[in-house]
Amino acid sequence: MTDLESLKKQAALKALEHVQSNMLVGLGTGSTAKYFIAGLGEKLAKGDLKNISAIATSKASEDQAIGLGIPMVELEGQSIDLAIDGMDEVDPHLNAIKGLGGALTREKMVESCARFFILIGDETKTVQNIGEKAPIPVEVVQFAWKATQKKLEALDTRPVLRLKDGKPFVTDNGNFILDCHIRPPREVFSLAQTLSATPGVVEHGLFLDMAQIAYIATQTDILVMTKDS
Ligand code: A5P
Repeated sequence: MTDLESLKKQAALKALEHVQSNMLVGLGTGSTAKYFIAGLGEKLAKGDLKNISAIATSKASEDQAIGLGIPMVELEGQSIDLAIDGMDEVDPHLNAIKGLGGALTREKMVESCARFFILIGDETKTVQNIGEKAPIPVEVVQFAWKATQKKLEALDTRPVLRLKDGKPFVTDNGNFILDCHIRPPREVFSLAQTLSATPGVVEHGLFLDMAQIAYIATQTDILVMTKDS
């Protein structure tokens, strides 16, 4: 395991300490969240946790969880005890960018229903200002996506269609993604509102004021970031 993978795993296992028997847990998506799902499956198999159910934020995470025997349920508006997910960036106020894995819409739907939301990641994910390192993924409907791109261009976000193997990347929901490159510092709360109000936009990857805590694994320890710290 590389250093980076080991850091991701450490952050994921730290978050796993929050899971208690009888909880409904939101499962994130990506290379960090997969360590959390693996750890959860292991604890259930050993009997260290009982009566857990989970809701996944992507087909990939759902497949992994089912493969580990984690009981899955659908999101039907119930309150989720705890959601755990990776991020692409997090600032000192726990505002985050998510969605480089393409699962931002389901992630936001699930995580917005969680009473407690934990971000996990390695030390490369921290920033002072949102947009320093990662683009903001914006999921858009395929219909007239170039028209939506023009609207996002007008917001000075430099939107680029995400490709995979030379073709447009298609999300689990059948949509495209425009990766938006802002010039920080920028007032991201108003940007988030404008993005949400743009016709053609399904969801954006600004996860502002949503998480209660972030575990950031560094070479020496695990940094605990809270809203008030
Ligand atoms: C998935 O769409 C994303 O939001 C991921 O949670 C985020 O990109 C972090 O992924 P990694 O843990 O793979 O860096």
